[in-house]
Amino acid sequence: MPVSLKDQVVIVVGASSGMGRDTALLFAKEGAKVMASARRADRLAELERHGIAIHPADATDAAAMEALAQATLQRFGRIDILVFATGTNIPDRALTRLTPELWNMMVSVNLNGAYYATRAVLPAMREQKAGSIYYISSKSAVVPDESGAAYQAAKRGLAGLSQAIRVEEKDNGIRTCVVCPGLTDTEILLKRPVKTPAETLAKALQSEDVAELVLSLAKLPARCWVPEVHLFPSAI
Ligand SMILES: NC(=O)c1ccc[n+]([C@@H]2O[C@H](COP(=O)([O-])OP(=O)(O)OC[C@H]3O[C@@H](n4cnc5c(N)ncnc54)[C@H](OP(=O)(O)O)[C@@H]3O)[C@@H](O)[C@H]2O)c1
Repeated sequence: MPVSLKDQVVIVVGASSGMGRDTALLFAKEGAKVMASARRADRLAELERHGIAIHPADATDAAAMEALAQATLQRFGRIDILVFATGTNIPDRALTRLTPELWNMMVSVNLNGAYYATRAVLPAMREQKAGSIYYISSKSAVVPDESGAAYQAAKRGLAGLSQAIRVEEKDNGIRTCVVCPGLTDTEILLKRPVKTPAETLAKALQSEDVAELVLSLAKLPARCWVPEVHLFPSAI
């Protein structure tokens, strides 16, 4: 029997577009109380029409992630689920072009932000003795590709964060899952150094596929733990 998500409180960081946006919409459709966050307030505002609360914030700012958790607690009284869908990449991703400044930015957005958001929600989850955290990582974390050293290292780092939580927070009823999607037709692809061919894009995942996967994971009973899940396009 799938767990009902009605009235569960869900924070989605990186909810202004792509997978995060579709995840926020899907959880809201299931009756969850959703708090959506990202930097672009105008994009988040569109979600308000679907009954989703918004809190614009930069995930690379630990205090801003703390304020996001506090705003959620004030509004909804608890935090059941965190989905960290924030991510970015850069055209100058090859080692011949990467700089320490770009590396730091990439690790900051893709990995530090996940830690800051996690740190902000853990106290409430510990108190509840329950909570689920989903990190949107990437196929690049498990299969070598050309997405760049900084992106691959940061995405693989999410597995380390997730594993540590498993060990340290299991007895508090907190579960984590690293979700590794393959190529998905979203705005992040505009940051590739070379445009993705239309025939490849036609075979890519859609952001709602990833949202459906996260939703189905969240519906598993608390006795189940899925450490990592891979979702790849079947035809690429
Ligand atoms: N598309 C793919 O092929 C693919 C494959 C595997 C994994 N992924 C991963 O999937 C996740 C979702 O990406 P997407 O494909 O849906 O692309 P997307 O549409 O570009 O979404 C990226 C999200 O991250 C947010 N973000 C970026 N920097 C941020 C910051 N400093 N603070 C807060 N939010 C920030 C963006 O919002 P703002 O700009 O408004 O802040 C946006 O909501 C990412 O982690 C990405 O790495 C994507």
